[in-house]
Amino acid sequence: MTPEQITLVQASFQKVVPIAGTAADLFYDRLFETTPQTRALFPQDMAEQKTKLMAMLATAVTNLHKLDTILPAVEALGARHKGYGVTAEQYAPVGAALLWTLEKGLGPDFTPETKADWTEAYTALAGAMTKT
Ligand code: HEM
Repeated sequence: MTPEQITLVQASFQKVVPIAGTAADLFYDRLFETTPQTRALFPQDMAEQKTKLMAMLATAVTNLHKLDTILPAVEALGARHKGYGVTAEQYAPVGAALLWTLEKGLGPDFTPETKADWTEAYTALAGAMTKT
């Protein structure tokens, strides 16, 4: 990713931070609607999961410009996901639910360029998580 793309992703994420709770609700509702088979992988009570996801996204977005330094942590996160029963195929619907959430949360700020840059960022993360 270019420095400009990274800056754009980081700036748009800053706009999601104040509505993180709503964004997490939107995201999981959307995921469980489009891909119901993923519901059983998660605990009944999603409160903690929602906080963890937003915190991890924040870390990833903050460190996009030095993805190589967080790569071991991202790969380890991917390995844990295998242990949760997550398959490589499930990364696509999760990415789609994330983009959908950003579109809802950012409204007109979710420009085609923002969408393209987020797609690239998610693809890089998912790629690292499914590497092993
Ligand atoms: C970039 C992509 C993703 C990120 C950043 C992410 C982030 C996280 C984080 C931070 C956790 C907390 C536990 C831990 O650190 O090991 C977690 C757990 C989990 N994630 Fe993900 N995840 C991603 C993709 C996915 C995908 C594609 C699925 C498939 C449905 C998924 C399903 C789960 C499940 C089932 C758990 C465990 C829930 C539990 O038993 O507590 N994640 N994820």
